[in-house]
Amino acid sequence: MTASSRSDYWLKLGTTPEQLMRSAEGFRTMAYAPYSNFFVGAALLMDDGSIVGGCNVENSSYGVTLCAERIAMANAVSSGKINPLAIAVAGEVSSFCSPCGACRQFLAEFNPDMDVLLMQNGSITSISLRSLLPYPFKLEDI
Ligand code: THU
Repeated sequence: MTASSRSDYWLKLGTTPEQLMRSAEGFRTMAYAPYSNFFVGAALLMDDGSIVGGCNVENSSYGVTLCAERIAMANAVSSGKINPLAIAVAGEVSSFCSPCGACRQFLAEFNPDMDVLLMQNGSITSISLRSLLPYPFKLEDI
């Protein structure tokens, strides 16, 4: 896959895009998704080399459901880590689970240039969050 060659932090931090995706798949098994039955896991690679993850958590009041990406980022912040370099998202095997708009904005707060690893049928694609969300809202921009 190409993400390893594009960014040098993988080597420096001793992990690989494949490992991060395996971790996202692990978090996916914890998903609470009784309404959609769409299970998602996300794993963040932080700048200290640690991996922090999350899964989607649904609710009877559908609108308050939280996506795996936001849960992962909130978990990271809750443990004092605010500098993500990459996020891997694992959805259903055959579906390309690209972060929703709300998650793009939420993640961009912490690193608008992080790499987003997506997987479909076992193959990983890396895309920058910047290209998924070219103009994130930033309060100081106004
Ligand atoms: N979901 C995520 O967790 N991440 C995404 O990137 C897209 C959607 C969740 C929210 C909801 O629990 C289920 O997938 C169906 O939308």
